[in-house]
Amino acid sequence: MKTYSIALIPGDGIGKDVVDAAWQVLERAADRNNFTLSATTFPWSCAYYKETGAMMPDDGIESLRKFDAILLGAVGWPAEVADSVSLHGLLLPIRKAFVQYANIRPHRLLKGVEGPLKTSKFDILCIRENTEGEYSGAGGRVHVGTPDEVAVETSIFTRTGVERILRFGFEQARLRRGKLASVTKSNAQKYSMVFWDKVTEELKPEYPDVEVTSYHIDAMAARMVMAPESLDVVVASNLFGDILTDLGAAIQGGLGFAASANINPDRSAPSMFEPVHGSAPDIAHLGIANPIAAMWSAAMMLEHLGEGAAATGIMTAIEAATASGTGTTPGKDRTDVITATVLAEL
Ligand code: NAD
Ligand code: IPM
Ligand code: MN
Repeated sequence: MKTYSIALIPGDGIGKDVVDAAWQVLERAADRNNFTLSATTFPWSCAYYKETGAMMPDDGIESLRKFDAILLGAVGWPAEVADSVSLHGLLLPIRKAFVQYANIRPHRLLKGVEGPLKTSKFDILCIRENTEGEYSGAGGRVHVGTPDEVAVETSIFTRTGVERILRFGFEQARLRRGKLASVTKSNAQKYSMVFWDKVTEELKPEYPDVEVTSYHIDAMAARMVMAPESLDVVVASNLFGDILTDLGAAIQGGLGFAASANINPDRSAPSMFEPVHGSAPDIAHLGIANPIAAMWSAAMMLEHLGEGAAATGIMTAIEAATASGTGTTPGKDRTDVITATVLAEL
């Protein structure tokens, strides 16, 4: 029987609850589909930081490298550890070190879920650049604490980085409805975003079967609300993709439904799967986190591992649960009730 080794990083707050729920669903799916999953859990989190002074050990990245995939809950506990420390100490370095340059985030309504829009007719795949751009970490502050203080945060866009994410977007569009929306802000950002638009134009002739349209980020935000059915694949830089995918989560009924996959398309290192949401300090410890985003991310993990039937099984079970009303109203069903319902459907 085939066995996949999975690194679990539950992290902080509701990350622990949703990873626990997703793992139960994964084990049941494996059992039903004749493969095995073996888990190794890493306690890396803000609590770990407070104990050790680091979000993960020095050899953290290397110890993850041997796994077939990583399932992560959420990182961040800003009341105790600054986000700039916790995220740059754990989540962001993993995405970068393992060249998980394509962050795939699907936005569609699950059966039984009523989103805030008048339409349910949308099915958007956001592809977010995940290793550079506005998240490059380049910059600094001078004259700190004085009236002359200046803070600089430099976005770095490389030809390699821009070209590979656009190609990924074109290829995903090809597998779907053939439409690619490329998101920039080239009217205001005259270097990076003009460059992004130029690379898009250069690649266009190689994908004559894909209809590509460039949008400004502000107009795209409005379009996702006003005309989401007009969109198929949306490709955006790291920060723009981050913002658009919380908007995408909102139109699909909330952050409890939004899944994501940090993919290394070359498979030279493990990919990582995690819900779009964070540690939700406001509801942590209440047992009411929606685990569906994490379960959907787990299904994306199985798809990536080549276990498509098991992935479909999880999605079918999730939608059977939501179609019957379980987990569709925030705070109504507890995490363990939603999990039990999905497990029963499986
Ligand atoms: P958040 O996503 O944690 O929460 C935003 C809102 O959505 C909150 O009201 C929360 O209760 C709700 N929510 C989120 N997930 C939910 C779920 N599964 N079920 C029900 N409600 C849910 O965003 P935030 O409050 O800005 O961030 C909190 C912490 O998480 C910060 O430290 C932040 O940096 C971190 N964060 C981490 C990740 C990650 O690890 N990938 C992602 C986003 C935020
Ligand atoms: C996400 C999160 C992270 C991001 C934060 C916590 C650094 O918001 O995964 O969407 O911006 O990538
Ligand atoms: Mn985000």
